[in-house]
Amino acid sequence: MRAESYQRCIAPSCGREFGVREARTECECGNLLDVKYRGSYPKSLQDVFSRRSGHGNDIFNESGVWRYRELLNFADIDTEAHDQYSKVLVSLDGAEGRSRPYQMSKVAEFVGMEPENVLLQPEGLNPSGSFKDNGICSGLTHAKMLGVKEVVCASTGNTSASLAMYAANEMLKAVVYVPKGKVAPGKLQQAYQFGADVIEIEGSFDDALEIVLAKGRKGSYVMNSVNPFRLEGQKTIIYRALDYLEWEPPDWFVVPRGNMGNVSIFGKALAELHEWGWIKKIPRIALVDAQAVNTFHTLYNGLYDGFELRWNSGSVDDRMIERYYSDLHKKGAQRKTDASAIQIEKPVNIKKGLRSLEFTNGISTQVTDKEMYDGMAIVGKNGFDCELASGAVPAAIKNLVEKGVIRSDDRVVGILTGRLKDPEMIVRYHMDPNNRFANPPRSAVAG
Ligand code: F0G
Repeated sequence: MRAESYQRCIAPSCGREFGVREARTECECGNLLDVKYRGSYPKSLQDVFSRRSGHGNDIFNESGVWRYRELLNFADIDTEAHDQYSKVLVSLDGAEGRSRPYQMSKVAEFVGMEPENVLLQPEGLNPSGSFKDNGICSGLTHAKMLGVKEVVCASTGNTSASLAMYAANEMLKAVVYVPKGKVAPGKLQQAYQFGADVIEIEGSFDDALEIVLAKGRKGSYVMNSVNPFRLEGQKTIIYRALDYLEWEPPDWFVVPRGNMGNVSIFGKALAELHEWGWIKKIPRIALVDAQAVNTFHTLYNGLYDGFELRWNSGSVDDRMIERYYSDLHKKGAQRKTDASAIQIEKPVNIKKGLRSLEFTNGISTQVTDKEMYDGMAIVGKNGFDCELASGAVPAAIKNLVEKGVIRSDDRVVGILTGRLKDPEMIVRYHMDPNNRFANPPRSAVAG
């Protein structure tokens, strides 16, 4: 199955279109771009996807990203012709996207729901240990289509790890910009180990991203989530969840908020499926900020000057966002959370994220670091691991159930975005008996 695709500016008042062979981080008007597909996709593809899963003779059927290749066919490949698509699609031997939702009984008890109603999808099972692999393989597919030899990103750690891994496998050069001293060592070591050029900058992730976006405007190929081709791969996080649920949507998807790539593309994935008639019900997205760095929560919930930031059919109040950022700047001190993955003050996909929340009747909430620690620990008690930023998911579900926002008979899919890469942090948690799920060692004497 072939596809006709193009890029389009997200602002309805602009709507400028670009070809898929152009690499851009934004429209001429400054707004972000979507990848769009002409035509509709038949529901009968669902059978094709299930036939492919479990077939170990084709890495592109094993891959939980490329199994759904018809739905992100910006490379315009014949999706049935192995000799053709295998030359174009980037995959780490089919290893990405092997996650699906799991029941976790101790998490269910923790959040106050029945085990069958709360499902968590551990994206840490990806080869580099986070959801990023879903998008890096599609972004690099695009980069290779254009003959790019060097790719660049800013990162709080997971993007750089994933990009370094996939670039090494494709023999491309990766240059990663990271905020010095603010990245978990377990993530940084991946970038070193996979041979990326690591550039440490004095400042925050937001500062690093500014440098990278400026490089993008001068022609560098940017792999951050401003790249719409990268985000296309992250649609499959939603596809795998829905596929597991036999395309019967849950009531909620819950996901942590960083640069807002996930929430943006989850909304797009659901909108497309809805448009093609694959789903009728639209799940609500609950987006979770770290309370210590709660830009989005503040703006969305009217906690800044009483103003509730909304998509508003594309007329987003830019001045309000700018004013908030400039107030942050005036205050000077950078806000901090132990969940360094989501220590992001200025989410670059904020408008796309707003669009998703509008489409899904979504909400924005926040959790404290302490709540995230308990969330991370309770996932551990089920024999899975996740990093602190992902611990935000069970923590938020618990709070939302307590507030009656999520009803106890709702069905919830939470996305555990990454695997634990900071062992010292979790050891500290377990050594402190004041922590709810602390599990310190006991001593014994030999003999
Ligand atoms: N969870 C984890 C584990 C992450 O690494 C990130 C983002 C997020 C959540 C936030 O996701 O940006 O889609 O809202 N990490 C980026 C990085 C910024 O550089 O690794 P988002």
